[in-house]
Amino acid sequence: MIDQGTIQQILDAAEIADVVGDFVTLKRRGTSMIGLCPFHNEKTPSFNVSQAKGIYKCFGCGKGGSSVNFIMEHEHLSYVDALRWLANKYHIEVREKEENPEDIKERNDRESQLIVSEFAQKFFTDQLWESNQGRLIGLSYLRQRGMRDDIIKKFGIGYCPDGKDIMTSAAIKEGFKMEYLEKTGLTIKRDEWIRDRFSGRMMFPIHGISGRVIGFGGRTLSQDKTIAKYLNSPESDIYHKSRVLYGIFQAKRAIIQEDKCYLVEGYTDVTSLHQSGIENVVASSGTSLTIDQIRLIRRFTNNVTIIYDGDQAGIKASMRGIDMVLEEGINVKVLPLPEGEDPDSFSRSMSATQLAEYIRSNETDFIKFKTKLLLAGVQNDPISRAKLITDIVSSIAVIPAEIVRSEYLKECSRLLDVREAVLYNEIRKLKVKSEDEMIKHQERELLKDTNLKVQPSFDLVPEVNPCENEERELLKLLLKYGTHKIFEVENPENGESNAVDVATYILSELEADQMVSVNPAIRVIFEEYRLHSDDENFDAVKHFVNHSDRQISQLVSDILSEKNKLSDFWRKKGSYIEEEHQILHQLVPKVLQECKLRYITFLIAQAEQGIRKAAQNHDDEAVSDFQKRYQKLKTVERLLCGHLGKRTITS
Ligand code: CTP
Ligand code: MN
Repeated sequence: MIDQGTIQQILDAAEIADVVGDFVTLKRRGTSMIGLCPFHNEKTPSFNVSQAKGIYKCFGCGKGGSSVNFIMEHEHLSYVDALRWLANKYHIEVREKEENPEDIKERNDRESQLIVSEFAQKFFTDQLWESNQGRLIGLSYLRQRGMRDDIIKKFGIGYCPDGKDIMTSAAIKEGFKMEYLEKTGLTIKRDEWIRDRFSGRMMFPIHGISGRVIGFGGRTLSQDKTIAKYLNSPESDIYHKSRVLYGIFQAKRAIIQEDKCYLVEGYTDVTSLHQSGIENVVASSGTSLTIDQIRLIRRFTNNVTIIYDGDQAGIKASMRGIDMVLEEGINVKVLPLPEGEDPDSFSRSMSATQLAEYIRSNETDFIKFKTKLLLAGVQNDPISRAKLITDIVSSIAVIPAEIVRSEYLKECSRLLDVREAVLYNEIRKLKVKSEDEMIKHQERELLKDTNLKVQPSFDLVPEVNPCENEERELLKLLLKYGTHKIFEVENPENGESNAVDVATYILSELEADQMVSVNPAIRVIFEEYRLHSDDENFDAVKHFVNHSDRQISQLVSDILSEKNKLSDFWRKKGSYIEEEHQILHQLVPKVLQECKLRYITFLIAQAEQGIRKAAQNHDDEAVSDFQKRYQKLKTVERLLCGHLGKRTITS
């Protein structure tokens, strides 16, 4: 963890125009600077940098944020890594946070688990290449499967010798503690009984995104059907299988380059595709796809092609969770394989060129694929047809982008021979998403649109923050109730429900709408809170009240000592008085909406001012652009008001 003072030093040094200037040629225009956006293709500049506000904003694609956000986005880094990147640029020495003994123990714990995993990986590869058993059994197995030596080495594949505790003894002899062998699951220990979890198996190390070994998949060499084909590392402090994709470390560069990611099921599918020259591939390995895995992919690309095994189970697997991918706004395609083939066997049965050609001509839109597949099983039975339509339309309904949705509906109308209007109607009827969600999507789409074309310069930004009060109220809720659970969200996959806390809700909403405060102190607080949000022992109030930046500690102290304003108002409206913490599920969304509404109102005023200015300059084109923007903002405003009204009634 980076020390607070260092973070502040970095934020102070990372002057926005200077940071952006490394990647974008900026020209001064009024009080702001403008250039060609690095995040989308454009010929006329719509990428604005405001030095006064310390932010960038592209009015073409809507991306915006602080210096740190820019580096995160541009270099595909996490928040902390972006800070380190900037520290390096400005030659700032990174001091690590002063940790209390528990922090230190936790970090040492994790580090020890990583180190013992690295040892085990080296041990397994040494065994594979150097030992008799490894060469005779392990290496010859891999070669028999047609795996080339360079691929074996690239993925660090190894062999765990058959025996009771050969690996464990070697580790202990090297001075590793049993505690960490056990915690990583490499060793199974019951009282005095000790054995290697993976004995006699081919070892596929699983790397985290930065390349450290965090777990293993072990394949048996036995033909015995009663033995599990693969054993995987159990969940541990360093290995969370729902957040890991096999091969991401080896694939990430290619995924960015190709702007596309292939998703397969198994370890050997990944290695074989690499062998055929396809390196932008990852596997979900033994879990059905999770939202965290999708978000991991989305850090690198918006285009995913699923290559499933050519059997019923494979088709089912690729259908499962697919709405999740669509919902994240990712474009999904499917590559069907012939019956009985998996990507591994299939890619080995042909040359790299043939494979590339097969992929090129057989990749299908997910919706088209699903429609055809389901249609084949239905024929003319009207009831199954109706069900089919609902099924497909519900997949389309989750796609966030209006344009993509309507394209799919057209396609679907053609394939199913149903009028488009009927399908639209179907979507309306479908309460796939709560109404709230739908409205949110609409707002977001509209907000995105309003950024198009018109480029209000930052000259129009007033020195006062238009939603200062609402932001302060949000901050108060965040600081006081950050870890309080407000919603239960059910996972449709397994029916388990997850609780969403106040902090997660607020931070993700702000992020989704790319709302960045005009007030730098408020901006830093949200950013730092985000930085610490995975940190279980994070005491937000203590952290910010003692902040090294006087402005921040002052602001937070003020906010926390303010008498309840909005909340009091809220309480009076209700028919009976409740404690603030009992109505968080209503209060937090409401304050958030009010904040957005202020923001919109501000943008509307800005557009009006734009119309006036443009009219004075007799710039008809600009007038009409600002008018369009104005219209759209008004629509968003109406939606938000409707939303707020509904909330008020439920109170
Ligand atoms: N898997 C698992 N546990 C099992 C079986 C499978 O975790 N008992 C996971 C593994 O990640 C495996 C993937 O599911 O790679 C796909 O399974 P399968 O198709 O059966 O294995 P393959 O990857 O095809 O392995 P191989 O080619 O070696 O048979
Ligand atoms: Mn296989």
